[in-house]
Amino acid sequence: MVQIIAFANQKGGVGKTTTAVNIGASLATIGRRVLLIDLDSQGNAGTGLGFVRTAHKQSVYGVLLGTSKPSENILTTAIPNMHIMPSTMQLADAEVELMDLERREYRLRDALTQIAQHYDYILLDCPPALGLITINALVAANYVIIPMQCEFYALEGITHMVKSINEIHNRWNPELEILGVLLTMYTKQYGMTRAVDEDVRKKFGDTVFKTIVPRNVRVAEAPSHGKPALFYDFNSPGAQAYLRVATEVVQKIEQGA
Ligand SMILES: Nc1ncnc2c1ncn2[C@@H]1O[C@H](COP(=O)(O)OP(=O)(O)OP(=O)(O)O)[C@@H](O)[C@H]1O
Ligand SMILES: [Mg+2]
Repeated sequence: MVQIIAFANQKGGVGKTTTAVNIGASLATIGRRVLLIDLDSQGNAGTGLGFVRTAHKQSVYGVLLGTSKPSENILTTAIPNMHIMPSTMQLADAEVELMDLERREYRLRDALTQIAQHYDYILLDCPPALGLITINALVAANYVIIPMQCEFYALEGITHMVKSINEIHNRWNPELEILGVLLTMYTKQYGMTRAVDEDVRKKFGDTVFKTIVPRNVRVAEAPSHGKPALFYDFNSPGAQAYLRVATEVVQKIEQGA
């Protein structure tokens, strides 16, 4: 059965896209069939896999609006086992256009049933907002991963995010579960990041991934080469951390650990 994981946090720049791309590449590398869906009009997930946003007509936009089939909007990537449904700038209009459509919260969920059987994992990279696009992702998903940056106000943001996820769970998607909170861009030298780490584990316990993703220049450089960190610098601390996170994902989902 396909596992659908949304990467969501209403806060911008916390590592959602980086995490979706790198967990995706890691899962593909260990033999899982992966589809990454770029739900952000910024198109960063596509860029991170070497696609130029203006150079393809394929987009999740038409899939959400119901004007185009999912299968017509999937591109193969340079990574074996990994496909992408990219976004285009037009996706920015979808937030408003979805408002008047029937089953507006279920558009993505309904569309994905057509292609689900081809994949082991479908990963949804959400925009930094809790609008209809993110709601569509959280209604389609069975799990959500919340990446968070280790900084002072982060915990407040996560608490808010968890409340929103609970509302979506209660209203539209009783299957939705938080798979984990993932600490990203960790810098050991800053005492404050350690304090955030302790606080978040106190509050969320085992829901927090054991692996912490360090701030690592190779992770930041990789998208400019159109590659996930694992394919840009396999041995870099960032790439190895994401490989460990992917292993935790597999353990939690496939082995129920
Ligand atoms: N572990 C890391 N080490 C160094 N840089 C990182 C790391 N993770 C992410 N970054 C960088 O931080 C920036 C924000 O990351 P990313 O785009 O993944 O966040 P996001 O939550 O998807 O942002 P948005 O909310 O805008 O979609 C990017 O420039 C990315 O390259
Ligand atoms: Mg992003």
